[in-house]
Amino acid sequence: MNDAPLIVACDLGTTAFRAVVLEVPVGGRPRVVAGASEPADGFEDGDFVDIKTGSLALARLLRRLQDEANVDIRGFTFNVAGSHLRSVMATGQIPLGQAGREITQRDVDEVMTMARSLTIPFDHRTLTVNPIEFSVDRIGGVREPRGRVGSRLEVKAHLITGSSSVIQNIEHTVDKAGFEPVGHAVDVLAVASCLLSEDERDQGVLLIDVGGDVTQWAALAGGRLLGIGSVPWGGEHLTSDLASGLRIGADAAEEVKRDRGVVLRSLVEEADIDALFDEEDPVETPGLVAAILEPRFEEILSLVKDALGPDLPLASFGAGVVLTGGGSRCRGSRELCEEVFGLPTRSRRLPESVDDLSRLGEGQWASALGLGLWGGGLGPAAATEPETERPPGWIDRLRGLWRRGGRGPSVDPN
Ligand SMILES: Nc1ncnc2c1ncn2[C@@H]1O[C@H](COP(=O)(O)OP(=O)(O)OP(=O)(O)O)[C@@H](O)[C@H]1O
Ligand SMILES: [Mg+2]
Repeated sequence: MNDAPLIVACDLGTTAFRAVVLEVPVGGRPRVVAGASEPADGFEDGDFVDIKTGSLALARLLRRLQDEANVDIRGFTFNVAGSHLRSVMATGQIPLGQAGREITQRDVDEVMTMARSLTIPFDHRTLTVNPIEFSVDRIGGVREPRGRVGSRLEVKAHLITGSSSVIQNIEHTVDKAGFEPVGHAVDVLAVASCLLSEDERDQGVLLIDVGGDVTQWAALAGGRLLGIGSVPWGGEHLTSDLASGLRIGADAAEEVKRDRGVVLRSLVEEADIDALFDEEDPVETPGLVAAILEPRFEEILSLVKDALGPDLPLASFGAGVVLTGGGSRCRGSRELCEEVFGLPTRSRRLPESVDDLSRLGEGQWASALGLGLWGGGLGPAAATEPETERPPGWIDRLRGLWRRGGRGPSVDPN
């Protein structure tokens, strides 16, 4: 019997919940065992706003996943997203004695603890802490301080904090659904672990995930996470723009967007946009669709660009932009992104490092797969040092949360 560890991960997205079972063999390539999705009922802005509806949706999803994978699922890891997340820069410094001495791992731990102790809102918890650069005796740009000699060690670090109440509420809803919440990771970092190569992280890359109600971004360079952020607009807004512009219902607008959506006017024949204002029932043409969608998509991208600010100049992104998310699937999205940022852009939805992706249906699976890889201790997610209560043996605990071959008595995860 194949007894490679299985990981169960669930993406709580603004439009859909998507859960996967991944097999992660030690030293081998991970592969998809099964995947299932459900509409994101009772869930808004990264939080369950209706616990009963939400827990029923989760229970339905996990039951389907169990059937497909033929395993008994006890718990899963999930993602954290939403407007409650904060991206914060912090510093820490420790003296090493006037005479100077060699810097040890303990010193690094101590200076990181100091950076982490930065005052965060009382109702928030720290989700990740990533060193950006160390300085030794004011010499900056040190990537590896261990082994250097000095009398003062400083660190500049990036922290992500999130609302304790939101995370507790998600855990409570997972529990109500009959499952155990087993760790969580920041959504955009899960997507980054799934889609970005080590080279891209080193050279500098801007990841943009245009989702349903929200667009999230993460900036990485020199192998480090430099910042994250979000814009409260995504694919759903493209749909509502089409509905009001063409004076059609939401379902019809969604169909137009998926089948014939184009966000770049220069790709189609120009249309007279007066029709949008003068005619009661404007006839849908590619030109009119592009005239409606382009301004919204351009604005989403421009807001991401503005949010980078002077601390994250575009020149930091030697590997350009990686564009993902269901909201970026209209024709012309990649080209418009290149125009807005002036950087080479690649559209990417699935990782190269995972096998049997064809078992997943339509949709955006990068979050769920990234969470699974992270849960399996694989991929660069580890480089983002998720600090989400992962006690020693965390992975072993997670492995205890499933059984192969159907519903026998469940394994006690503890
Ligand atoms: N083929 C397609 N063409 C255009 N838009 C699409 C297509 N497929 C999906 N979308 C749009 O993608 C959006 C959902 O994107 P995605 O699945 O990445 O979001 P999510 O993960 O549920 O939410 P979020 O990441 O915001 O939490 C919806 O607005 C949907 O209409
Ligand atoms: Mg998503």
